[in-house]
Amino acid sequence: MQAECDPNLIVYFNGEYVPMREARVGILTHALHYGTGVFEGIRAYWNATEEQLFLFRPVEHYARWKRNCGILRINVPLTAEEVSEITVELLRRNRFRTSVYVRPLAWKCAERVGVCPDDLDAFAIVALPFGDYLPSDKGLHVGVSSWRRIEDNAIPARAKICGAYVNSALASDDARRSGFDEALLLNESGRVAEGATCNLFMVRNGALVTPPATENVLEGITRASVMELAERELGLRVMERPIGRSELYICDELFLTGTALGISPVVRVDHRPVQEGSIGAVTRQTRQLYADATQGRLRAYRKWVVPAGAPQQEPAPEPVSFAEPGAG
Ligand SMILES: Cc1ncc(COP(=O)(O)O)c(C=O)c1O
Repeated sequence: MQAECDPNLIVYFNGEYVPMREARVGILTHALHYGTGVFEGIRAYWNATEEQLFLFRPVEHYARWKRNCGILRINVPLTAEEVSEITVELLRRNRFRTSVYVRPLAWKCAERVGVCPDDLDAFAIVALPFGDYLPSDKGLHVGVSSWRRIEDNAIPARAKICGAYVNSALASDDARRSGFDEALLLNESGRVAEGATCNLFMVRNGALVTPPATENVLEGITRASVMELAERELGLRVMERPIGRSELYICDELFLTGTALGISPVVRVDHRPVQEGSIGAVTRQTRQLYADATQGRLRAYRKWVVPAGAPQQEPAPEPVSFAEPGAG
């Protein structure tokens, strides 16, 4: 993630909108030592024609976040709709006129030593200007990692649990140092799981194929959006089924999906070109549909976006505060 952190950004912390420099946690915070937090990643897309910022599927993201917080027994005492409203207000207060990444984080906030968690929870939301996560216009070169995807019975990959991202960090660090753009991870059964920060789709014999959630993948919102767009708008057959490593070498097209990297074509895997090594037609079409949907240009998918731009000439808003018991 290449985003700069401006200390004057307004963030949501301890139930208030405050400048980033005032949002601080203590050195003994449980989540800092033991990884006991759950985060989300949401994007808001600036549509220059409409002069509007569109937040993409916030309620779906927050519903997933709350469900996954439940895995760690972290309580977010607001509904997904309420946290969405807070986020829209946060974006408005920052008066962004560019695309933005939103990072909600809920964590175990007790300040003490000892791994067994208690019931002290906190959450915060940061939003910051954000461009391309990876330069993928010409297609990526990905490499299968020697690190294996974490197992559901060790740390559930379906949740964005902070500590679990050591797995992604090890794999992506290795991949970048070996000259790849991104790492692909196999699970302990040796089948393809996903990228370090993204889901994976392959095109084979006219069908769009992605590993099922039981292969230890994060159930991506972009993944779900792509499946719906491909089926409905492109009339493609979409299949969730296991994928073997060598199938990646012979497939027709390959692409990665995720909030941060959008839909990124893959043109080489482990030094082998995907077909001719150029971006395929299904990938191009899906990418275009997704770009149109996220920018609010597709009427049928307007329900996926929530306007979050600051009205022009608007007077400074009154502070809004949501009580947040136990926030630390
Ligand atoms: C490991 C992993 N897989 C998949 C994804 C894609 O999920 P989404 O499309 O909801 O952003 C992410 C996103 O951060 C991720 O970290």
